[in-house]
Amino acid sequence: MTVLILDFGSQYSHLIKRRIQELGVLAELKSIEDCTMEAIDHYKAIILSGGPMSVYDPQAVLPPLDLLTMGIPILGICYGHQVIVHLLGGKVEPSKSREYGLTMVRIVNKHPLFEGLEKEEQVWMSHGDIVKRLPNDFFSIANTPTDAFSAIANDEKKIFSVQFHPEVSHTIHGIEILRNFLKIAGLNPSKTKTPILERVHVPKVKGNILLGLSGGVDSAVTASILARKNNDNLFCVFVDTGLLRSYDEEHVKLVVEKTGIKHYFKVDASQRFLKALKGIKDPEQKRKIIGKLFIEVFEEKALELEKKYGKFTYLAQGTIYPDRIESAQASKQAHVIKSHHNVGGLPDRLKLELLEPLKELYKDEVRSLGLELGLPPEVVFRHPFPGPGLAIRIIGEVTEEKLNMVRKADKILIDELHKAKIYYNIWQAYAAYLPVKTVGVMGDQRTYNDMILIRLINSTDGMTADVFPLPKEVAVRISTRIVNEIPGINRVVYDITQKPPATIELE
Ligand code: XMP
Repeated sequence: MTVLILDFGSQYSHLIKRRIQELGVLAELKSIEDCTMEAIDHYKAIILSGGPMSVYDPQAVLPPLDLLTMGIPILGICYGHQVIVHLLGGKVEPSKSREYGLTMVRIVNKHPLFEGLEKEEQVWMSHGDIVKRLPNDFFSIANTPTDAFSAIANDEKKIFSVQFHPEVSHTIHGIEILRNFLKIAGLNPSKTKTPILERVHVPKVKGNILLGLSGGVDSAVTASILARKNNDNLFCVFVDTGLLRSYDEEHVKLVVEKTGIKHYFKVDASQRFLKALKGIKDPEQKRKIIGKLFIEVFEEKALELEKKYGKFTYLAQGTIYPDRIESAQASKQAHVIKSHHNVGGLPDRLKLELLEPLKELYKDEVRSLGLELGLPPEVVFRHPFPGPGLAIRIIGEVTEEKLNMVRKADKILIDELHKAKIYYNIWQAYAAYLPVKTVGVMGDQRTYNDMILIRLINSTDGMTADVFPLPKEVAVRISTRIVNEIPGINRVVYDITQKPPATIELE
């Protein structure tokens, strides 16, 4: 009982799969080149995705006409809508007035595809081409002032298509449209969102699994879900680099406790990291040293565990779907994030197979799954924390003393955000140490000390970021506490730069 989603290259193709699965129906995403017509015949419904091409281009990827005559119910979306029109003899042209973004469509014909919807609906459009003439036996079921054929249907053939994107959340009742399509295809979609636990495949594997726990949500959820079937052969390693915040280890322990993980090992490598970073001021050098040493320490522990428990077969990683999109792009940012996000290079050296149970999920799904698995909210909704840790939040050389200062400042900041009940409204917040001396006055005494910078931002994916407007009374409390409680600091500055031009981290 599976739906085939034919991928024509839209950035939302994977989202269609997510939505169908949220409706409790299995879905596979494939490109037309990877399908034979015999294989397609086994699917109960087909969705043609959007895509960046124009159907009338000589290079356009088009499915064979047979696809539309097999009798399988079909839903076309955006490019898929135009493919159906083009293959069946209608006309698609470049549009004079392109429609991008939020648009209101008017439903002009009562139709099962739009059951339960209003007469006017907000949808998300993104197209430069437009359907000018319908194929025979099709009729329009929705339009906009500039597009007479925003949604069309042929009930006898059970072929339907829409110019807009029902899979994106901006199309308010998009999920209803997809549910209606599945109903028409006889697929019995669920009325409510299916728990993610029901749709993530957790393999029971033979052989030992190695997993690095960091305190972050992705590795926590990975550990928790793998432990359900593999607790006897799952080995979780937490490397204390000494570059962590005061509560990171606590979070790891909470995960271990809540999940009932049997084999948990902490490696205290803080002195090794401090030694390796001695005298190093250059940001990139810091990152490289930390990345390399992390793998070294992790590998040593793995080899030690192998001697006692037998060889590892798998390396489990908390890779999520956006990580895979990012690593496919050759962007600088993706590169940096990748190098510490996973223990790269290790699978090859130890000849390990990768286990990535979250690789089809988006961040919000990972969080929901974390809650379904009983992980505490402070872990599930915690702010992102970079692999190189506090080392890139200390400008200049990293020393134990500066680490302690920045750790205290971070703790004050985070505690105050929790007290003000705004921690969960902020995407990321941190404190950093700046070796910049300024003059101050404390109890009639002149001071000449360093400063702490605080940065609070909002973002959806870390690629761009806006500054979070910290209420003044909270800001004052934070700065007062930092200056009073941390010797050596006499000034707190608030970073008000967006990304771009600034990055989120300072180094
Ligand atoms: P930037 O500073 O590049 O940060 O604007 C974007 C997001 O990525 C996080 N970040 C990292 N995460 N390893 C990570 O796992 C890293 O090396 C790394 N560098 C930055 C950063 O905290 C922000 O959320």
